[in-house]
Amino acid sequence: MTTYSSQFPDPVALVTVATEDEANVMTVGWASPVSHEPPILMVSIAPERYTHDLVLKAGEFGVSILSDDQKELSTIAGTVSGKDVNKLDQPEFETIVAEKIRAPLIVDTRAMFECKLISHQTIGDHTVFFGEVLRSTTDETKSPLVLFNRKYYTLGKEIGIYP
Ligand SMILES: Cc1cc2nc3c(=O)[nH]c(=O)nc-3n(C[C@H](O)[C@H](O)[C@H](O)COP(=O)(O)O)c2cc1C
Repeated sequence: MTTYSSQFPDPVALVTVATEDEANVMTVGWASPVSHEPPILMVSIAPERYTHDLVLKAGEFGVSILSDDQKELSTIAGTVSGKDVNKLDQPEFETIVAEKIRAPLIVDTRAMFECKLISHQTIGDHTVFFGEVLRSTTDETKSPLVLFNRKYYTLGKEIGIYP
């Protein structure tokens, strides 16, 4: 099925969250930077996701941008709910401890962001969470996984430079 949203190439990111008692990971395609200074990003999460209320409770979250050799992690985190399974306990998810937030981050990803929740708004059938990036880590040797029209891609060849 072609939907308006499937016409946007998306990054594939894992949102991690942890409260005192629980931790979880979920896949988002709807993730984007929204401000340079201060650095703020947004992730859009449907209210029925287990992650949704955990982010509200924790007041912070992690975003790990998957590399193009990590599509299996997207599938697991994006098809199984933390309501049923502790995804972060599964061997596929190798994590590291973050410095500024309680949630762990996912290793071997292109980039990792530690975010403080600064605002959220219900927009249609999703909630948009805005997170101020407290710390970011990038691995320039990794290439990001891309989602387009329900299929995963690697980046194509470079054809120009943004002026
Ligand atoms: C590639 C991909 C992208 C997704 N993007 C989003 C998204 O942007 N927002 C959202 O709410 N759910 C998205 N999902 C669905 C959630 O990841 C999925 O429902 C997940 O199981 C929720 O986990 P949770 O219940 O443990 O929070 C996506 C799934 C996949 C596979």
